[in-house]
Amino acid sequence: MTSPLRIARVTLSDRAAAGEYADLSGPEIERVLRDSFGDEPTIIARLIPDEREQIAATLRELCDIEHCDLVVTTGGTGPAPRDVTPEATRDVIERELPGFGEAMRAVSFAKVPTAILSRATAGTRGRSLIVNLPGRPKAIGECLPPLLPAIRECLRHLNGQ
Ligand code: MTE
Repeated sequence: MTSPLRIARVTLSDRAAAGEYADLSGPEIERVLRDSFGDEPTIIARLIPDEREQIAATLRELCDIEHCDLVVTTGGTGPAPRDVTPEATRDVIERELPGFGEAMRAVSFAKVPTAILSRATAGTRGRSLIVNLPGRPKAIGECLPPLLPAIRECLRHLNGQ
């Protein structure tokens, strides 16, 4: 028997973390994941500013202490100076899975030419899968659903199935 999935959603945004506007992206990730995985998974929510060290520390904690099977981040993947999510992700992953970023850019580019500005990546740390998504709620609805079959398969592989 396998234990219930543990998932984290992490919003990276200086302004949302400062309370300047509401975090709509984290709840949007949760909505898409609940649609797919149902009520069973525990979903841990985090909202932090675009600070590389803080992002990396949060990702390590969610993988190593909270034992999340899946960690989905949103935001901080673009070319702006404060966008450091891919760098923080590479600080903590052991193996990169570049196909996730490639797929979301390909799927999204057909709809919005600016999709290729996202440097989102993914990778594994121990038995955890970390996936970056762009920050806009609309982008989450466009990027996350096509990734779900590969996410499910990857979780099976990480569990040795
Ligand atoms: N992907 C989709 N599907 N839809 C979008 O609107 N926005 C793009 C891109 N990817 C977008 C998208 C833009 S404008 C940027 S700058 C990058 O994601 C990075 O966004 P982020 O820094 O919020 O992660």
